[in-house]
Amino acid sequence: MAAQKISVFDTTLRDGEQSPGCSMNLDEKVRLARQLECLGVDVIEAGFPIASEGDYAAVKAVARECRAVKVAALCRTSEQDVLKAAAALQEAAHPRIHTFVATSDLHLEYKLKKTRAEVVEMTRQAISIARDYAEEVEFSAEDATRSDVDYLCEVFDAAIEAGATIINVPDTVGYTMPTEFYKLVETVRERVVGKRDVQISVHCHNDLGLAVANTLAAIEAGARQVECTINGIGERAGNASLEEIVMAMKVRSDQLPFETSIDTTQIYPTSQLLSAIIGFSVQPNKAIVGRNAFAHEAGIHQHGVMSNPLCYEIMTPESVGVPTSQLVLGKHSGRHALALRYEELGFSLAPDEVSAAYGRFTKLADRKKRIYDQDLIALLSAGSRTEEQTPHAVSQVNRWKHASSQV
Ligand code: KIV
Ligand code: ZN
Repeated sequence: MAAQKISVFDTTLRDGEQSPGCSMNLDEKVRLARQLECLGVDVIEAGFPIASEGDYAAVKAVARECRAVKVAALCRTSEQDVLKAAAALQEAAHPRIHTFVATSDLHLEYKLKKTRAEVVEMTRQAISIARDYAEEVEFSAEDATRSDVDYLCEVFDAAIEAGATIINVPDTVGYTMPTEFYKLVETVRERVVGKRDVQISVHCHNDLGLAVANTLAAIEAGARQVECTINGIGERAGNASLEEIVMAMKVRSDQLPFETSIDTTQIYPTSQLLSAIIGFSVQPNKAIVGRNAFAHEAGIHQHGVMSNPLCYEIMTPESVGVPTSQLVLGKHSGRHALALRYEELGFSLAPDEVSAAYGRFTKLADRKKRIYDQDLIALLSAGSRTEEQTPHAVSQVNRWKHASSQV
């Protein structure tokens, strides 16, 4: 039996961009969106058009540029919001309007100051307007995991009746636990979706470090779309990380027999591009894309990995786009080695750019014992990086090189 497909909805440009220090300008958003297309995501949520003219312009530009993917725009349930999202998506090849309203009593009382009945009505109206403008309408019940479950099902039911074909269950504040979230998604599947042709989506935040675990539990319970971000960036502690969800399904396909359309060899390049754009790298021990994810320091581990990588590696670096390299860059390295490293990182530099980068590199190497790929990318940012210098592949310094039969 063919594995069931899980759609990957990337919200790096919307939820990710909302997090402190992660804002991007229009060109950067378009560049990242193109890379997300190469990565193979199914949906790019490009922004929240009513939030600012910058967001509106970015959604418009991404919709114009990215023709192979679905492009989503976020809006609240007011008519003005929905129309702004629709306008931003006008040129999209595959537009999706994503409308949301909170459903927890806490949000209804203190934030929206609306009754439950009023929220049901707002949901119906927003979706019926959105249906006139987009092929697909997704509805999110903000703070779903702290909502009364009967009421949550009532709102989802109204959303589907009005024309939503994707219903999203967000764990907005990262509060739920995997078994609890499994049951909630199962309840929504049994009580609301039934035999209707409606996809369940989940959107998990990482406040308790459980976003990926909750997302995987939801998939097992019947969710078929996952909302996530590159490097797990997003509001507060972030969103579920795309690379962790995808690789968990790939490495543990025995437990999670699902597939995605992600080209996993594009994971590391995408992660590096995002880091270069927003100006900060992921923590070194971050799963999949951290600098140490494939580094082995302890003697016993080094010996084990040299004998057989399976001893300490459950996936190969190549499978996520980290090419191996024996090259160590330090203060004795020459400009050829530096140019080669940039080449491996996917930056094609002209000779004068290599010279400029080399000048900055030697100064840094005098101060720093070990130079990492992130340092090299930062050196380029310190100069004038052009659009052509976008990375398409990056490598890891000083990793053991070996053949392997892993993923
Ligand atoms: O976290 C959240 O609830 C959201 C919704 C808008 C989907 O980001
Ligand atoms: Zn969110």
